[in-house]
Amino acid sequence: MSENNNWHLAATTSEVLVDEPKAVKIGEHHVAIYNVDGAYYATDDICTHEFASLCEGFIDGDIIECPLHAGQFHIPTGKAMSPPVTEDLRTFKVKVEGDEIYVEVTT
Ligand code: FES
Repeated sequence: MSENNNWHLAATTSEVLVDEPKAVKIGEHHVAIYNVDGAYYATDDICTHEFASLCEGFIDGDIIECPLHAGQFHIPTGKAMSPPVTEDLRTFKVKVEGDEIYVEVTT
């Protein structure tokens, strides 16, 4: 079995509710953790347009809307969905063990 040291305990499931993403800092990375109908995802928390925390934005299903200029991203893929955002968000692998959410980030 191969394990690597890039998995970081980021949150517990009780901290990441549907419509309430959680911002965490892992090394130098600002990461947003989402709960989309019970499935957990992680992306960069900082918008690719300007500097804004997406965790302070608005969730609509599997879409996060930036609080600053309302650009939208698809949470599972990080894909930029609507102007003014054109650059996709980076996504991170997530695994859940018990009630612990781990995110794979190379620090
Ligand atoms: Fe996110 Fe402008 S900073 S859309």
